[in-house]
Amino acid sequence: MKYNAVSSKKTEFVFEKLVNYIAEYKKTPKIKPVFKTNDFALYNDDCLIVLARFPDNYVDMIFADPPYLLSNNGFTCQNGKRVSVNKGNWDSSKGFDEDLNFHDLWIKECKRVLKPEGTIWISGTYHSIYKCGFLLQKNNFHILNDISWFKPNAAPNLSCRFFTASHETVLWARKDKKAKHYFDYSSMKNGDFPEDSIKKPSLQMRSVWSIPTLSKDEKIFGKHPTQKPLALLKRIIKSSTKENDIILDPFNGGGTTGIASKIIGNRKYIGCDLDKQYIDLTIKRYENIAVRSKLK
Ligand SMILES: C[S@@+](CC[C@H](N)C(=O)[O-])C[C@H]1O[C@@H](n2cnc3c(N)ncnc32)[C@H](O)[C@@H]1O
Repeated sequence: MKYNAVSSKKTEFVFEKLVNYIAEYKKTPKIKPVFKTNDFALYNDDCLIVLARFPDNYVDMIFADPPYLLSNNGFTCQNGKRVSVNKGNWDSSKGFDEDLNFHDLWIKECKRVLKPEGTIWISGTYHSIYKCGFLLQKNNFHILNDISWFKPNAAPNLSCRFFTASHETVLWARKDKKAKHYFDYSSMKNGDFPEDSIKKPSLQMRSVWSIPTLSKDEKIFGKHPTQKPLALLKRIIKSSTKENDIILDPFNGGGTTGIASKIIGNRKYIGCDLDKQYIDLTIKRYENIAVRSKLK
């Protein structure tokens, strides 16, 4: 399938065509979404398997929050208590070279499926972000920004032997060095960001964003161990996508990227996750938003 510029009228058709293309792809086994609406498709599978069935140059924006690969039996502090850092098998490191190879494989696939002017966001801490940044450059992406997401309510450091970790990095890069990417400059400059004590009204959005970790509202259906706040994803989606764009998250988790695109509206979302419980959490969150928007 070749890349064609898509008019807004055709978006519905294009989204359906993409989901059918993935399902009908010649490679076996055939893959169907476990959840599908007119703007949302969820795959309960390895993203490398799903991505291999995507056509080239099709997706407008990717947000990827890959495993940080730090579940190494350490401890951290949560609500004042000492708890294990282990999130699950999906987050255990297989050693430097294998971890680097894993990131290389999914970053290469993301590059293939993005449109030339499409952009990718990758979030991480120092455990993974330098590897991902290196691989973005190795795979000829053009880095646009490295956002520092400052967490004003980060948990304290229990050992008192290090600085308290209170930020994550979110890289933003364009597929093609020469293409022109989309940036909603005006809504970033003039929008309302009540959660952010750094952003000043009507001044340019800077690359340090102050956004608290999850609010209670975001956990009403349970939570994913590394769930991102909706305010972070809403800002990312608003700044870098237009109406009718197709957004992909290869590491869906609790579905924050999809839920933020549904709240903003008029976007199509595709998410993949290995773990069924996180897909189920995403469906509950999606249905809640869908019901609320019908009631408005
Ligand atoms: C860091 S979490 C993403 C959290 C998500 N951003 C959120 O806000 O909830 C990474 C997720 O990737 C999933 N995962 C790990 N390896 C995967 C793979 N190869 N393919 C698809 N999902 C994978 C894990 O099950 C986990 O839910």
